[in-house]
Amino acid sequence: MTDNNGNRTEGTAWEALKSHASRTGDLQLRDLFAADPQRGERLKVEADGIYLDYSKNRVTDETMGLLLRLAVESGLAGKIEAMFSGEKINVTENRAVLHTALRAPQGVRILVDGQDVVAGVHEVLDRMSVFSDKVRRGDWKGHTGKRIRSVVNIGIGGSDLGPVMAYEALRRYCQRDLVFRFISNVDGTDFAEATQDLEADETLFIVSSKTFTTLETMTNAHTARAWLVDRLGDEKAVGKHFVAVSTNLKAVAAFGIEPTNVFGFWDWVGGRYSMESAIGLSTMIAIGPENFRLLLDGSHQMDRHFRSTPFERNIPVLMALLGIWNNDFLGAETVAVLPYDQYLKRFPAYLQQLTMESNGKHVRLDGSRVHAATGPVYWGEPGTNGQHSFYQLIHQGTRLVPCDFIAFTKPLNPLGRHHDLLVANVFAQAEALAFGKTADQVRAEGTPEWLVPHRVFEGNRPSNTLLMETLTPGALGQLVALYEHIVFAQGCIWHIDSFDQWGVELGKILAQRIVPELESATEPALTHDSSTNALIRRYRQGRA
Ligand code: F6P
Repeated sequence: MTDNNGNRTEGTAWEALKSHASRTGDLQLRDLFAADPQRGERLKVEADGIYLDYSKNRVTDETMGLLLRLAVESGLAGKIEAMFSGEKINVTENRAVLHTALRAPQGVRILVDGQDVVAGVHEVLDRMSVFSDKVRRGDWKGHTGKRIRSVVNIGIGGSDLGPVMAYEALRRYCQRDLVFRFISNVDGTDFAEATQDLEADETLFIVSSKTFTTLETMTNAHTARAWLVDRLGDEKAVGKHFVAVSTNLKAVAAFGIEPTNVFGFWDWVGGRYSMESAIGLSTMIAIGPENFRLLLDGSHQMDRHFRSTPFERNIPVLMALLGIWNNDFLGAETVAVLPYDQYLKRFPAYLQQLTMESNGKHVRLDGSRVHAATGPVYWGEPGTNGQHSFYQLIHQGTRLVPCDFIAFTKPLNPLGRHHDLLVANVFAQAEALAFGKTADQVRAEGTPEWLVPHRVFEGNRPSNTLLMETLTPGALGQLVALYEHIVFAQGCIWHIDSFDQWGVELGKILAQRIVPELESATEPALTHDSSTNALIRRYRQGRA
């Protein structure tokens, strides 16, 4: 028998967890709590203002011991050090993975190919700060001399999801007389709707693209350029209304953006890990440089926690291990992320790219096939809205859906009883999922016998609850880094490269082949499969 590494497994933690899971398969949270009245106090950790209750997972002390052993056996400690110290752990792209350097304090030295990268990070941050302040104060004037009122970020994937999420999450800290829009989709509707009420001479476009070659972003950027020039009647207007964020300075220059209006970053920042690089320029303009630095500080705090805290009290490591337990040993296929804070409404969408583009892999670092299930599907919606939509399935469906609840003790918008009602719902949901309602309890309420099975809640549904004080920029930084590190730790245990994304390539290449077939004036000779050929013909017909 082989383990997740393809090695002989007798005696490994993975194998021990497998047999442990089959022995304890019918563990009930109700029994676990009854047998240990202190469980809720014991299975929790608190660090840097984050309280994690993980007691409502189907684990015993033995499970946790084995999971911690798994982390040790997979060499996690060494891999954490390798990441933080700039080793090229993104093996398939031969790159270092240093989003942690984006929030390293000034003066710290991290070397990539013998060069310190932290000084460069702070240089860009300083330039971003000067530029952001100019826009915020109205000192950056457009082509006609008017101040900028609207900022439009054009980007996709990591060059969009982080900025959108952070803008929504930190709206409370935003300069309200500036309008922010985000254009990502190549669907023209995205561009049309985002710009339909904007004044060109008061609009600043930030073209955000690590590669500056991405089809969607380049298409939207060219459309934006034409939109602006058309309205202002002068090519020269581009200089005052376009800035770029990219690692590809050559391509930016070819687009016609002044080098002084380019904010760079580096190949050791993965797209989905880039919201705290210059890709966060729209965030900085929205919340101001000081708040942006607080966001970075929050992430750095989580970085230090992850790097230095023993695994049994290490929040990302514990959450990573519990995720592995639920996914690989209890058969859960998804994770629902349920923030009970309206400002975090885009957090699940942001996490989808972070987690699934990182760990949706079926091949290990050494090229052999993974034997475990990797990368669960992340999804979610803010509470309480989800309760009135998909929670039914989580409570009474046939699938196991582990949940991450996220809540805050202090609201940003105190309004009567709203916050207590909101938080009561978080706790109630986690309680109901864990303990359910037995047939006897249902009967005792006078329910007719035929209705009893419909009203039973089996319970035993696992969840984590993360409780923090307030959704500040720093708290958001902590949350972002927390999930980044969960993803990393899980990738280490599965022995996959969490930092490449070869899986997005094939569709892009095929699309390039199909575009001319859709646009050709004459009937193209099609050599795809019969389904794709028929769809192309039907589209051409409909379009004609
Ligand atoms: O297609 C996937 C992807 O490469 C993501 O990894 C990345 O975040 C996104 O496209 C955008 O890439 P870029 O910033 O280079 O435009």
